[in-house]
Amino acid sequence: MRLIGIVGSGATTSKAPLIVNEEVEQLAKEEQLVVIDDGSRGIKYLGVLREVQRLEPFLTSWRRTSFVDNPNLVESGILPYSRASVFIIGVLSPLGELSEPQLPPNPGSKVFVIESPKDLTLNLGLAESIMVGTHKYSGIEIPLRSDALPYHIAVVGTTGSGKSRLVKVLIDEILSRTDYSVIVFDHTGMDYVPFYEVKYVIKARDVVLEPTLIASLISSRCGYDDREGYLLLSAIIYILNYLASLSENVISDVVDFESTAGTGARTTLVSTRTQPRRLGNFNVESLMKLRIDFDKLYDYMAKYPIKWNIHVFKDILSKVTKELNARGSTKVKLQVAVSIKAGTPLFESLSGRNIHPRNIVLKAFKDKLCVVDLSGEDHLVKKFIITSVLNELWKSIESEGKAVKTVVVIDEAHNYACRYCGESLKAIARTVREGRKWGLGLILATQRIMDIDPEVRNNLNTLFFSKLQTPTDFNELRGYMDLAGISEASLAILGKREFFVAGLMNPLKIPILIKVKEVKI
Ligand SMILES: Nc1ncnc2c1ncn2[C@@H]1O[C@H](COP(=O)(O)OP(=O)(O)OP(=O)(O)O)[C@@H](O)[C@H]1O
Ligand SMILES: [Mg+2]
Repeated sequence: MRLIGIVGSGATTSKAPLIVNEEVEQLAKEEQLVVIDDGSRGIKYLGVLREVQRLEPFLTSWRRTSFVDNPNLVESGILPYSRASVFIIGVLSPLGELSEPQLPPNPGSKVFVIESPKDLTLNLGLAESIMVGTHKYSGIEIPLRSDALPYHIAVVGTTGSGKSRLVKVLIDEILSRTDYSVIVFDHTGMDYVPFYEVKYVIKARDVVLEPTLIASLISSRCGYDDREGYLLLSAIIYILNYLASLSENVISDVVDFESTAGTGARTTLVSTRTQPRRLGNFNVESLMKLRIDFDKLYDYMAKYPIKWNIHVFKDILSKVTKELNARGSTKVKLQVAVSIKAGTPLFESLSGRNIHPRNIVLKAFKDKLCVVDLSGEDHLVKKFIITSVLNELWKSIESEGKAVKTVVVIDEAHNYACRYCGESLKAIARTVREGRKWGLGLILATQRIMDIDPEVRNNLNTLFFSKLQTPTDFNELRGYMDLAGISEASLAILGKREFFVAGLMNPLKIPILIKVKEVKI
């Protein structure tokens, strides 16, 4: 430890003014950890330096002195000095324990800067902790409370600041030091997938899609937002037809014939079995009345991966539009759009999917880790997969009635937790509101906290933040947490891998600057 100055007049239990010894001025840097030794009372305080300023007693801007009119006098007669504020973290016991300060440090107390981990042993009494990095200047390891995991985490910073790498460190720490499982959604397939063995990775391309989503995908590719009805009905008929051709029991298991459309529908559907790849002799009116168990249907879709054939689909669509009396031009436009705008590649991308989102959850429970590679998928599909995995976690909680001890990582979270994100926002909001009771935590990484719906962001109780994208983001942060003297300017000069940690996971009372561990490729 090096002596850097003394406490000036006006200290409180949370903040003490430091007057810096001119010779070691360069050591009094923002975010340095310091120890205040109040020898007169035998109390030591741990604190962090902020609000460093350079002053001169005579050169105040509100007082006119002869220096102004004779600038040459500056060469000989001024007395510049530095001051700073020590934001007090706590009172330090000889064993390195921290407690609440009861008295402000006495003016005149000596202030020492902590230069290396040897200078201070912190003993925070945490039963279980994780280590994301070390304090930027002193190199002291800052243990973070793992019991705050189900209270949810946000990682915020401008592009390239190192958010995804920080999250990678968090994932590895959670896996090695806690009994939590982790499900990671890799938005680009480049941030997490390359780091883990293939056996932990599931490709979004293999996840089964619901009939409504299939219809939305075809519809949005075709450029329609009002033709989903025809497409959905056609998709359901296609699926039922396909499954009926593969398994005798599917239709009677999935469709409730007794209560609704009766035998007419049964004959039309079952008759398609004998002509698997051709359009059956179905009656659209009666099919529309069918009561279908979509959960079961979805299960069967995972069991018997569907092969989508654009020509068969178009035949079904043509029959559906005809029987529902669509206008001639609508029929033609739909046929053309499906052929040209959706085209074979879309139907190929729908084919062969065989992973139920439930299996992602079960895999994570079993292997502790499941990384979902979302790359290359349509945005609607990405949202659907995240939503359904969260919903499956909730189903597991509801059926088992016990904690799932799982952390779900959503990178590029503004795509899923924004105000207009619909179903995925709903699932994320429920998780951040209620997950804590069931050991279900979220880690959301995003460039701008503003882009996350307020209901979600107000429930993220630990925040890692670095250089921010815009000044508005800083005001937003300041609006919902005590930044203890951290200024926008001090954030602007942060480098890669440098993040403040604030909130429940931080065992120190105020936000602390850490340098994230190096992630090696
Ligand atoms: N902890 C780290 N260890 C090693 N390299 C790092 C670390 N953090 C950041 N980097 C370097 O910085 C680059 C950007 O980091 P990262 O991809 O985590 O940024 P990001 O904040 O997630 O950016 P974006 O918003 O664009 O996703 C990495 O490719 C890596 O080279
Ligand atoms: Mg990233």
